Amino acid sequence: MKVALGSDHAGYAGKEAAKAVLDRLGIAYEDFGAQSGAESVDYPDYAQAVGEAVVKRQADCGLLFCGTGIGIGIAANKIPGIRAAVVHDVETARLAREHNDANILAMGVRNANSELLPAVIETFLTTTFAGGRHARRIEKIAALEASKPASPLNFHR
Ligand code: RB5
Repeated sequence: MKVALGSDHAGYAGKEAAKAVLDRLGIAYEDFGAQSGAESVDYPDYAQAVGEAVVKRQADCGLLFCGTGIGIGIAANKIPGIRAAVVHDVETARLAREHNDANILAMGVRNANSELLPAVIETFLTTTFAGGRHARRIEKIAALEASKPASPLNFHR
């Protein structure tokens, strides 16, 4: 297994903490930045890098971190084929994999209980998709994605 890692400046500490978890589990990873928490950067850039690595199968899944997990999760979910789940507890991490076949875990460093971070990451990486009725729902998500409905909301107001 190989994991793609990314964060903005606010999530940098989470990304670095994730490396310790991956090292302990013996899982390979590639770090797509940011390179420090000191310089303000834009989370969509790192969501794009990690999301593209996953859809191109250069990585099996991704771990993304920002202040809340929300912005970087929203950005990652704009990439066709990405199912990013914003998760901060072990049970939801398990369900994100079992039910949603999530291929990216997005976490917030400002809101997360940092003690839970290793367990959430380990659960996400070691839980497999349950398939069955859940596969039908994932196929419907893919069909929705392919239909590209026009949206007047797709701009900043
Ligand atoms: C950066 O200040 C912050 O907005 C970002 O890390 C994230 O929380 C956005 O969702």
